[in-house]
Amino acid sequence: MSNRDRFAVVTGASSGIGFAYAERLAERGFHLILVARRRDRLEEIAGRIRNKTARTVEVVSADLGNAADLLRLETLLTERDDIEVLINNAGLGALGPTSKVPASALENLVKINVLALTRLTHAVLPGFLRRNSGTVVNIASIIALMPTPSGAGYSGTKGYVLNFSRSLQMELAKTGVTVQAVLPGPVRTEFFEASGLTEAPFPDELFMSAPELVDSALAALDQGELVCLPALEDMTLWTAFEDARATLIRALTSSGRPATRYSTSAR
Ligand SMILES: NC(=O)c1ccc[n+]([C@@H]2O[C@H](COP(=O)([O-])OP(=O)(O)OC[C@H]3O[C@@H](n4cnc5c(N)ncnc54)[C@H](OP(=O)(O)O)[C@@H]3O)[C@@H](O)[C@H]2O)c1
Repeated sequence: MSNRDRFAVVTGASSGIGFAYAERLAERGFHLILVARRRDRLEEIAGRIRNKTARTVEVVSADLGNAADLLRLETLLTERDDIEVLINNAGLGALGPTSKVPASALENLVKINVLALTRLTHAVLPGFLRRNSGTVVNIASIIALMPTPSGAGYSGTKGYVLNFSRSLQMELAKTGVTVQAVLPGPVRTEFFEASGLTEAPFPDELFMSAPELVDSALAALDQGELVCLPALEDMTLWTAFEDARATLIRALTSSGRPATRYSTSAR
């Protein structure tokens, strides 16, 4: 990631993981555009980062679930040619049994975790491709690999983030544009509270801090690791998972005939 006079956009920068990205990217020399709904928090964070790093920090108060706000941010990203990094981090959980989660909350979940992330990526790509340079970091979750009975909508949205990112990696492989998917496990932030839970569904020892998560994800990016599993010690497990996936895909694309177990004579 080059950073001379370049801007990084961080969504969901008013707390948790987004705030940690903002601090670290400013320390790496980027100017910042910080996005979230809570303007007061963003202004306070912006002031602190400006004092510490002398970077330019702009604040955009926007509800990414609101079509007009999202369009305003997309337009800004499209019109500026000084943006080098987009961190698609804003997200929420809407956790709990699906029949008990209000439909409006599920809709909002999809709007922010999926729609906003997709449209913001789409907004920066033409400029990144024109300059043959730029990085998109999409914050998914280990839940993308782990269907769960207590967050079907959340798991679905993060599965989308992972597949969207990996498909883009293939599409952009021969360009100077990088897309990284980050799959955090539990991180100590306001996430579970904001998702309507009174206590987190993981024991305390499984949590890492937001700065630990972000330092790991940035180290992964520096090392060219485009799917970052921050707590995974043994990377051969991921390789084995990928090998199994490739074997399944080869089998799935080797025949167009229905499998014999579905033929009437097999019943
Ligand atoms: N914490 C975990 O255990 C964990 C694990 C895996 C993945 N993640 C992912 O990490 C990302 C960041 O979450 P976090 O843990 O840092 O949680 P957090 O502390 O609750 O931060 C969420 C951020 O998203 C912003 N946001 C929420 N709704 C928004 C909206 N409608 N419009 C604009 N911004 C909005 C919030 O800002 P405002 O409220 O000011 O708008 C806040 O800055 C999410 O995508 C989450 O799914 C978290």
